Amino acid sequence: MARKPIIAGNWKMNNTAEEGAALVKALKPLIADAKCEVVVCVPAIDIPAVKKAIHGSKIKLGAQNVHFAEKGAYTGEISASMLLAYGVKYVIIGHSERRQYFGETDESVNKRTLAALKAGLTPIVCIGESLEERESGLTEKVLDRQLREGFKDVEDFSKLVIAYEPIWAIGTGRTATAEQANETIAYIRRRVKRLFPHKNAGRMRIQYGGSMNAKNAKELMAQPEIDGGLIGGASLKPDDFAAIVHFDR
Ligand code: PGA
Repeated sequence: MARKPIIAGNWKMNNTAEEGAALVKALKPLIADAKCEVVVCVPAIDIPAVKKAIHGSKIKLGAQNVHFAEKGAYTGEISASMLLAYGVKYVIIGHSERRQYFGETDESVNKRTLAALKAGLTPIVCIGESLEERESGLTEKVLDRQLREGFKDVEDFSKLVIAYEPIWAIGTGRTATAEQANETIAYIRRRVKRLFPHKNAGRMRIQYGGSMNAKNAKELMAQPEIDGGLIGGASLKPDDFAAIVHFDR
């Protein structure tokens, strides 16, 4: 079965609820005939307003993090059931900014991923190497560790999405070349199959993320291993995001 492409916006810490609702209202008509899956991962406080604004469109709602406990004394955190109550379907887990600034580890990524899967959310789990790691030839070693630890005990890889985001390409305007991205994503898929046999890895979707934009999306998406994109900066502009969604035109 072919893997359905998935283009997801990661708004990060941008847009008030009102601004977010306006953004998706502008986006709706532009992507009405999209053939791929379209997701917007919005700040938690924007979720109610964006849920209302996407009504009647193909846009699916995503969050940017989820806690691993069902509830309890975890000040500042949000549970899977709270997200599900607002129709959230997807959740980004382990974004490099969370690993870098908020102490997220492979272990906490694993716990959040398992909790999201158990609740019925589709995790978009981010992995990727730093510039230093790439330049020291450590890319595969780092990815291998992130996969091994971050995906421990996952039973069905068709129920999650991996976003391969080389850290040096995020927000820098420096994209991996399409071939580089394709090669690394092929490695990730091979590795998941090897580390987790008989867990449906062949049906798992892998996105590329890192300075993907209206200009380079077509070339990246033409690569056989790349099943989608996780888009930061360009997802804040309806025209640019729509152009990426229409990579197949
Ligand atoms: P960018 O961000 O598209 O702005 O590089 C991608 C991401 O961090 O998910």
